[in-house]
Amino acid sequence: MLINGKDITIHANGLNIRYDDLGVGGTPLLFIHGFPFDKSMWQPQLDFFKTGSRVIAYDIRGFGKTTVSMEEASMSLFADDLVEMMDVLEIPQVIACGLSMGGYILLDAVSRYPERFKAIILSDTQCIADSPEGKEKRYKTIELIKSVGLNNFADGFVKNIFCTESLENKKDLVEKIKQVILSTTSETVIASLMALAKRNERCTDLAKINVPALIVCGKEDKITPLAQSEFMHAHIADSVLAAIENAGHMSNLEQPENFNRHLADFISGLRK
Ligand code: MLT
Repeated sequence: MLINGKDITIHANGLNIRYDDLGVGGTPLLFIHGFPFDKSMWQPQLDFFKTGSRVIAYDIRGFGKTTVSMEEASMSLFADDLVEMMDVLEIPQVIACGLSMGGYILLDAVSRYPERFKAIILSDTQCIADSPEGKEKRYKTIELIKSVGLNNFADGFVKNIFCTESLENKKDLVEKIKQVILSTTSETVIASLMALAKRNERCTDLAKINVPALIVCGKEDKITPLAQSEFMHAHIADSVLAAIENAGHMSNLEQPENFNRHLADFISGLRK
């Protein structure tokens, strides 16, 4: 099923998923956003790739306009939503790109549904689970959000996800992302923090990944540092690593041209 357009709603896995579906041709390129953002974070990629192929970006359960009660949230449930959405859209295979939490979801999906992925792009992400300290930090954040709301959380979060150069020179971008965070419900942020804290490690699955993988990471990523990408590159047989200068955790937005070029080179290599 192909209905080209922005802000389309499709019913899959018991929820109404909001997505953009642009361009035609080739294996669809599907983007999975990070926490706590929405599909709008992929705008520079949709604009760039829609001229040559079909591109899809969607709002994960609870985020953006995929509004739903977040009683249950887990990386596996998010991965099931993704694969069900592909079923409803009658898409047998995609080239999927996930950033950060989007990468956790993608690693979960590719380990359980390997045949649905022609290739994967792991951006600013990692295969490890949270350390006990990491979990503790998330639980403290939950308590803070419950008592004072999302404002402090959003302020602190944006300071961590952008590199110094972006914080100084890309203030509009930083503000835009902050507004996306603030438009997410506290319920979704809290349920997702729980899901992130409880997620399983996926490092032991890396050796089983038998599709080509591009691993991209901002050199100044403080959330999922470059060393984590190097680790995944060392353990996924058919993988390439691209480290992006002057970028933190939001490499696709901080350096869109460079990011898009790496994706375009990788995708054109798949056709050879
Ligand atoms: C994300 O960007 O998706 C999150 O920061 C990931 C995380 O907190 O582990």
